[in-house]
Amino acid sequence: MMNILGIETSCDETSAAVVADGVTIRSNVVASQIPLHQRWGGVVPELASRQHIERLLPVVIEALEQSSLDLPEINGIAVTNRPGLLGALLVGVCGAKSLAWAMSVPMVGVHHLDGHIASAWLTEPDVEFPFLCLLVSGGHTELVLVMDRRKRFSLGRTRDDAAGECFDKCARAMGLPYPGGPAIGKSAAFGSPNRIPFPRPLLNEGLEFSFSGLKTALIRFLSEDGGKTSVEDIAASLQAAIVEVLVEKAFRAVKTVGVNTLCVAGGVAANQELKRQLMARANQMGVRCVIPPPILCTDNAAMIAAAGAVRLLAGERDSLHLDTIPGEPIPQLETAELRR
Ligand code: KG4
Ligand code: ZN
Repeated sequence: MMNILGIETSCDETSAAVVADGVTIRSNVVASQIPLHQRWGGVVPELASRQHIERLLPVVIEALEQSSLDLPEINGIAVTNRPGLLGALLVGVCGAKSLAWAMSVPMVGVHHLDGHIASAWLTEPDVEFPFLCLLVSGGHTELVLVMDRRKRFSLGRTRDDAAGECFDKCARAMGLPYPGGPAIGKSAAFGSPNRIPFPRPLLNEGLEFSFSGLKTALIRFLSEDGGKTSVEDIAASLQAAIVEVLVEKAFRAVKTVGVNTLCVAGGVAANQELKRQLMARANQMGVRCVIPPPILCTDNAAMIAAAGAVRLLAGERDSLHLDTIPGEPIPQLETAELRR
């Protein structure tokens, strides 16, 4: 049995988890910084780093307690070391290095997006490879072809804003609280999705995304409308535009590469309307659809432990010189067929 301690501090959640053999979650503690950043309308990197420093050890202790394991029963540590806010990443990585050194256990650095992808097999241990992962978070919107637990290629990503970022920026313009995705999702449930014909950027073109124009269209609408249209209708119309693009592209990618399974990951995967439409289309097309529970969609350390387990279980480790890297894209699969 290999008990892995996962640590995640790449953005605004301080999280620690214990995962056994890479698939069984024994604990997954997430301390959210949402209240800290809410008054600024978005994540303030320096504040995030400071709060990670204060919370990391209490969160690790809580994760150990909930797992009913003692520190000596931990056999390895997995920590997000890329990509993310540099100061925030440093806190987790320094903590992981100190623990790994003190406990004499191996440590590996994990790519944050590999963590999100691993939420697929944490949710569905028998998930069939290769699968297509629609990765939709506050920082990323990407279609990833996952060949196996190690090998993955990007088929297309956003040219500008991420889907979650679009939710967040639009919510801010509408006077809704941060983070915008859940706020818009709640409001949208009471509005009409057809009320405003917001643009569907790049809907019929390839596997790339673009969401910054949608934000511009919303801001223009708000100033021209002058408060006549209800927040619920605006939220529902905006959500409909984002969801339609995500669903269309996800299934275009599934068809292009010919896989049978679609997994969704990242904070936006917690969106009810997105889930509903993905499930409906998957049923229609005979595609299996894996959608993690909300706790595994938003940032958490269980997914980092699961991703790190792939290397730890193979006996690999990183040195205590492990770097933190603010940006590192997933390699693109370059074929003429896929770029069409
Ligand atoms: O994966 P995540 O926790 O952090 C990043 O790695 O970015 O994703 C956070 C993003 C935020 O943009 C937030 O607005 C969005 O996920 N989000 C949602 C929902 N819950 C979180 N977007 C739409 N509907 C939701 N229910
Ligand atoms: Zn994330």
